[in-house]
Amino acid sequence: MVSEPTDRIALHGRTMSAVIDLVDGVPCWRHWGARVAGAAIPGIADTMPAASFSLDHRPAIAVVPTFGHGGFDAPALLAHRGGRDFAQGFDSCTVNWRAPGTAVALVLRDSVARLSVEHWLTINPASDVLTCSTRLTNDGDTPLSVDWLAAATLPLPADAATRRYTTGRHNGEFVSHEEPMGPSVWRRENRRGLTSHDSFPGAIVTMPGVTAQDGQAYGVQFAWSGNHVQSIAWSDEGSYLWQFGEWFAPGEMVLAPGETLTTPDMIATWSAAGLDGVANAFHAAVRARQHWPGGTMKPRPVHLNSWEGFYFDHDETRLKALADDAAAIGVERFVVDDGWFTGRNDDRAALGDWTTDAAKYPNGLGPLAAHVTGLGMEFGLWVEPEMVNPDSNLYRRHPDWALAIAGRPMLTARNQLVLDLSRAEVRDYLFDAMAALLNDLPIAYLKWDHNRDLTDAGGSDGRARYHDQVLGAYALFDRIRAAFPMVEIEACAGGGGRIDAGIAERTHRFWVSDNTDAVRRLPLQQNFLQFMPPELMGAHVAASPAHATGRRIAMDYRCAVAVPGSLGVELNPATLNDQDRATLMRWIAFYKHARGVLHGGGTWRGTAPDGMRWQAQGSPEHLYLFAYRTEPAQLRTPPSLRLAMLDGARQYRVRLAMPPHARNPAWFAAMVDTPALVDGDWLRTVGLAMPPMLVERAAVFELVAQ
Ligand code: DGJ
Repeated sequence: MVSEPTDRIALHGRTMSAVIDLVDGVPCWRHWGARVAGAAIPGIADTMPAASFSLDHRPAIAVVPTFGHGGFDAPALLAHRGGRDFAQGFDSCTVNWRAPGTAVALVLRDSVARLSVEHWLTINPASDVLTCSTRLTNDGDTPLSVDWLAAATLPLPADAATRRYTTGRHNGEFVSHEEPMGPSVWRRENRRGLTSHDSFPGAIVTMPGVTAQDGQAYGVQFAWSGNHVQSIAWSDEGSYLWQFGEWFAPGEMVLAPGETLTTPDMIATWSAAGLDGVANAFHAAVRARQHWPGGTMKPRPVHLNSWEGFYFDHDETRLKALADDAAAIGVERFVVDDGWFTGRNDDRAALGDWTTDAAKYPNGLGPLAAHVTGLGMEFGLWVEPEMVNPDSNLYRRHPDWALAIAGRPMLTARNQLVLDLSRAEVRDYLFDAMAALLNDLPIAYLKWDHNRDLTDAGGSDGRARYHDQVLGAYALFDRIRAAFPMVEIEACAGGGGRIDAGIAERTHRFWVSDNTDAVRRLPLQQNFLQFMPPELMGAHVAASPAHATGRRIAMDYRCAVAVPGSLGVELNPATLNDQDRATLMRWIAFYKHARGVLHGGGTWRGTAPDGMRWQAQGSPEHLYLFAYRTEPAQLRTPPSLRLAMLDGARQYRVRLAMPPHARNPAWFAAMVDTPALVDGDWLRTVGLAMPPMLVERAAVFELVAQ
């Protein structure tokens, strides 16, 4: 066996490696990507040519690039002491293996600028996920101002072809973009104070020729629910450098002597199995960060959420009738959305006053909650703890609790302000208010909303509070989770404004968007699935016409788009005609039957010619395939769907689990009751034939390997 040289740091996953060399004590990147043996590699110092008109000791691509050792690439650290010590360079590096071959800490010291950096890299061999973070310590005796600290600086090959990322807004999250890589710095900044609708903290970089299931792709995401910066910069050493870190407002981050700053985790992965290879690694990474009540995820219950059925128009009798109807159609968790607390008749007042509105619920929420649990459903409640309306008792009592900049007008959004969660007394008030609800009522689930961005996020000392606000919110989540460990929480922020791997450690579901139009929702959800697993994807069957867009959509299609996620209903079932009600009930029953396969396993997404889009969930042994017709058919014969995730050496029993409403050719009609046997290699290479479908209709197949 060849052993690795002592100046080589190699981490290996199942299919992925990260290789670093120490060059004169400076850790430098050699490789991140496909697994390599990592032993017989020529030394970087021996192979690097001298470059004309360059530094005599030119450093290679440093793992933690800084000015002080002559690096001109994107720095990982920008810090100073009143303008001095602006150029950091490390004079020692200690390599601490935390787990041989998979987890290492590089401890770098700068005795001139008097600071140290600990850079952690961990590969999870099961999921092929590389998790990186950085801790900076002020070893000096004066304050250290930190403008930028990257969680990691990861190298990408010079022939990387495209970057893919999403933008969005309320009612329009996860809009995907694909751009060619190039020498200009690509930079996405989020300064909205929470994760944001428009800058999901993650991206994908693909090598030429990548497809959904094939080819090399890299991905990163950032486990943080606040401001962030992501950048990819070209280096003339022949690599792109990919960084993620927090965005700091001017003067926001100052470390006192001895103080430390630890970045959130940058979660990175590489796959030769295309975009879905990256997606499945991310799903494993997010699942590994989650904390379920009781330790394991129970089957994801069918929700009914009161919002689009009733908005603010609550009363006990109507909500009880809604609960009766919900139970009758198979709902398992009944969530009372906004509108239940004192004075909350519209979105202009009452946030902060977390007591039940006696005009709507004369005996409190207890009777409704008992009614819901008596029907065999869980009771869930909407809250928005971090917010306050100027028209509220809380604000009248504590106007100074809202984030503000002295002398400037307070900017409201949705008529509300943001409470300063860096203050212990604010967190205590909110904890007590939530604890009172959770103690008094049989609440199994909180829908935790956050309906505005942070603008003037100043504290009483006039300094920026963005970073501290996220830590304060995390502390509140953590305290509530610790005191009420059996309560699940949904992360919502005007739909999908707080979706990230940091909040996923504290919550159990995402409300992905307020846009419940199934036509728009399908690509939106598939882009969400690039980063997050399907069991966290709140997906509701809503009314037609859709409230966000006015589009009319068949009940079958609305259900087919929602069922792969964590299914819910976002309408009043009493408004449905008999046919739609029966259709909804059929899909709810199917979801309950299939959810054990749909959730917790693999996800694959694809498109086919002539307006077909598909999604498969489960494993190569047993999966469900959702085939969606998004455009009217132009071809006489629908295109077959090639299913590259299947095992070519096995045969599959293929059943049409949810047939489309059309005259199905004999083969499809027969497989509703009697599964057809088809070779795996046929399904992989030629594909599964599709039945004819009208536009905005879907078919679901079940495939079981023999
Ligand atoms: C925004 C959420 O996305 C909706 O689902 C709903 O909970 C409203 N807030 C309530 O104000």
